[in-house]
Amino acid sequence: MAVYTVFVLCVFCFQYVLGNSQLPLQDDYHGAKPTRGEPWPLPQIYTPSAETFSLNYLSFEFQVTGSTCDTLAAAIRRYEEIIFGDHAKIDSRLKFFPKFQRFSSADGNVNKLSVHVQETCDTAGNNYPSLESNEAYNLTVESPNSELIANSVWGALRGLETFSQLIYEGLEGQLEVNKTTIQDFPRFKYRGLLLDSARHFLSVEILKKNLDAMAYNKFNVFHWHIVDDQSFPYESVLFPQMSAMGSYFGLSHTYTQADIKDVVEHARLRGIRVIPEFDTPGHTQSWGKAIQNLLTKCYTSGKPNGNYGPIDPSLNSTYDFLKKFFGEVAEVFPDHYIHLGGDEVSFSCWQSNPQVTDFMKKMSFGTNYAQLEQYYMQNLLTIINSLNKGYLIWQEVIDNGATVRPDTIVEVWKGGYQAELAKVTKMGYHALLSSCWYLNLIAYGSDWKRYYACDPWDMVNGTQKQLDLVIGGEACMWGEYVDNTNVISRTWPRAAAVGERLWSNMKVRDGAKAAPRMAEHRCRLIRRGIQAEPVNGPDFCEHEYRGV
Ligand SMILES: *[C@@H]1O[C@H](CO)[C@@H](O)[C@H](O)[C@H]1NC(C)=O
Repeated sequence: MAVYTVFVLCVFCFQYVLGNSQLPLQDDYHGAKPTRGEPWPLPQIYTPSAETFSLNYLSFEFQVTGSTCDTLAAAIRRYEEIIFGDHAKIDSRLKFFPKFQRFSSADGNVNKLSVHVQETCDTAGNNYPSLESNEAYNLTVESPNSELIANSVWGALRGLETFSQLIYEGLEGQLEVNKTTIQDFPRFKYRGLLLDSARHFLSVEILKKNLDAMAYNKFNVFHWHIVDDQSFPYESVLFPQMSAMGSYFGLSHTYTQADIKDVVEHARLRGIRVIPEFDTPGHTQSWGKAIQNLLTKCYTSGKPNGNYGPIDPSLNSTYDFLKKFFGEVAEVFPDHYIHLGGDEVSFSCWQSNPQVTDFMKKMSFGTNYAQLEQYYMQNLLTIINSLNKGYLIWQEVIDNGATVRPDTIVEVWKGGYQAELAKVTKMGYHALLSSCWYLNLIAYGSDWKRYYACDPWDMVNGTQKQLDLVIGGEACMWGEYVDNTNVISRTWPRAAAVGERLWSNMKVRDGAKAAPRMAEHRCRLIRRGIQAEPVNGPDFCEHEYRGV
């Protein structure tokens, strides 16, 4: 991230050099007028019409006609509240003013949405989302009965979200929806968002609010960068001293096992997988506070200097610890995948340590510390294999030459991603793009259009086979400058640009065309309690965020 820091600084210099940063950048989407009842992300096949129906919360009902399960029942309750919540409240006040009649010129009513899920959705294997989940659905909005059909419950969740977005307020405040047909499915099966709860502690409430926003944007993976150098908030069952000593401020800055269950369940009910990242061997200063001899002692002039480097790969005790620790992680997090990090490993401390140097000799690694890193990673991967879990890693592991299992997912995060994607997929690995979606790198203006323009298929000379190995991407909000006070508003709606890129057809690329829909979507998020910041310059929402 050092590279990026320089880049950020330069963005600011650049603006100063150019002069008055209050002047709008030329191609910002100023004053884009919000659409009414148009979905975000745009469905694959979307046929709206000008025929308008009205909806009334007293007569409207959801009807489940296929399989059902807790996920579907909970989703229907949520969308009832999202669609009719305010209206039911407003109407219960209005009954004291019976003369008030709402005006509607609608062509009829929509009285029902039947929801038909074809597969059973309550059996083991079907009740937690996976990389292979089928999220396709068909939606027909018609009067008096509308219909949502999906193969799996995960598709039904996406369809319910779309249905709720098609409904808008008419000019008199009445609920309306246009006759529409939709056939929809995601372009990429991995649509992730990373939050970092180690640089600043994020509360369970904020994590859950972020999951809500993810569901409103059809994201399906929460990459939880849960620990790092600065703090270790994960409360381990086997090693409780790690958070006791490694968290920022004792129990108030930790995640208990119950907290984790709460987050994972909140995500599951929204069709979102939770992939935890326990980044090693670098980024582990907080781990070393409680675990003796885990980190490498750094030396100056033949003596330990009191500093610690990455995890010490030369000791057997390291791997005994990792086996126990990841054994626990594998049970606590139900997803098949764990993110193992592997980024930004500094070799200088390893180089200074005489025992590590001896080990290098013993292993005939010469002075090739990348080989030592590979040795560590391969031992770790063997441990994860034995736990029957899959893994994601940052690109450096591959860049440093480690061989990994064929189904490994390599996350590309550095600049020059077009060549890196080509390299990684040529080696046959699955790839995930995040380089162009570091949302923590803020800049003045409508920066979402940059995120919108970037595409996971921007690969140097990629063959179809290589393109097929790109399973999606991830928006990242690193935590150095965000905490509970601003993480939601800084992430949203900017992450929505990534959401549409990963879901919609690749031809949906015109930011200027998307801007009015983005304007409506931001207002929709605000209406639903997400404090989504302005992204199109001067504008307004009919229902503004009021600070409560
Ligand atoms: C919905 O219908 C209204 C009224 O006919 C029309 O003005 C509007 O453009 C339609 N919306 C969409 C998304 O087609």
